[in-house]
Amino acid sequence: MNAHSKKISFHDFQPELESFREAVLDGLSRKPKQIPPKFFYDKTGSKLFEAILEQPEYYIPNVERALLQKHADEFAELIEPGAILIEPGSGSCEKVQLLLESVLPAAYVPMDISGDFLQQSAFDLGQQFPWLHIYAACIDFTHKMILPQGVPQGRRVVFIPGSSLGNFDPLGVQHFLAGIHRLVGKCGGLLVGVDRKKDHATLNAAYNDAAGITANFNLNLLSRINNELNGNFERDKFAHYAYYNDQPGRIEMHLISLEDQLVNIAGQDFCFTEGECIHTENSYKYSPDEFISLANAGGFRHKKIWSDNNHFFSIYFLEAY
Ligand code: AVJ
Repeated sequence: MNAHSKKISFHDFQPELESFREAVLDGLSRKPKQIPPKFFYDKTGSKLFEAILEQPEYYIPNVERALLQKHADEFAELIEPGAILIEPGSGSCEKVQLLLESVLPAAYVPMDISGDFLQQSAFDLGQQFPWLHIYAACIDFTHKMILPQGVPQGRRVVFIPGSSLGNFDPLGVQHFLAGIHRLVGKCGGLLVGVDRKKDHATLNAAYNDAAGITANFNLNLLSRINNELNGNFERDKFAHYAYYNDQPGRIEMHLISLEDQLVNIAGQDFCFTEGECIHTENSYKYSPDEFISLANAGGFRHKKIWSDNNHFFSIYFLEAY
C-alpha cells in the first residue's frame, strides 16, 4: 500500500454487462436501429476518445481548457472552499486538474462507466495531488447518481466539462439537471461546459477528423459487440457517418451498412440493408439562451457565463434554487 492510497477509494456500482447486452439487442431491433453512446466507452473506446481530444479539428478541448485556465479563480470563488466536487463522466480526470489548486475541494468524486480507466485515472490524479481525497465511483451516471459512502459533508458542486450533456436531447438534459438538483440540494452548484451552434463546416470537420480517429471510435462499438456479446460484425462492411443536422441542432453519428448483410449477435440474427444506419450518437449544440432556459426548467439559475471570442463554447456556473 502506498502512502497516499488511504486518500483514494474505489466504489464499484457495477453498471455494465447486462445493460450492454440488453441495449444492443433492443436497439438493433428498433427502426431506425440505435445504440446509446455510453457504450462507446470500453477500454479501447475510452482510449480512442482521448485520441479524439487531440485531433486538430476537434476544437472543444483547447477552447475549454483556455477558458478553465483563464477563469480558474472566478470558478473557485463561486464554488467556495471545502466543496465536494463531483464529476460525472470524468474520463482521464484531465480538466479538473486545472481547477484543483484554486478550488481546493474537501473531496473529489470522479464518476465513470469505464472501471479500469477510472481506477487508473484516479490513481494518477492522486499521485499528482497527494492532498486530495478521491472517492472514485464506477457508475452509469445516466442511470443513477449516488455518492459513495464516506464522502464528507460540504457544499456539493457538480463539474461537467467537455459538453458531455450534448449527448442528451433537450428533455433529457432537463431530467438530468433535475437529478443533479436532487444530488446537490438547494444552493448546490453546477459548473458545466456546453458546445455552441456555429458554422456547419467547423462542426462537421470536428466529427470527421482527417486522421480517422472518430471513425475508429464509432466502429469500435462493432468490435466491442463482437468481443463481449459474441457478435460477428465485419467492420469493413460498415462506415462512419457523421453530420450536423440543423433542425434539431445536433451532430448525428451513425454506422452505415455498406451492403445488404446479416449479422449474428448472441445467437440472434439482425438484417441490414445497404445504406441502413445504426444511430450511435447525438451531440446537441446550444445557444446560451437555449441552455439557460433548459437550466431553469431543471431547477437551476445561472450565476455567470464565460465564452471564447469566437463564441464556439461556453462555461456556465449554475446554482440550484
Ligand atoms: C463526449 C459527448 C462531448 O459529442 O463531442 C466526440 C463525444 N463523439 N466525437 C461530443 C464525441 C465523437 C463528445 N461528448
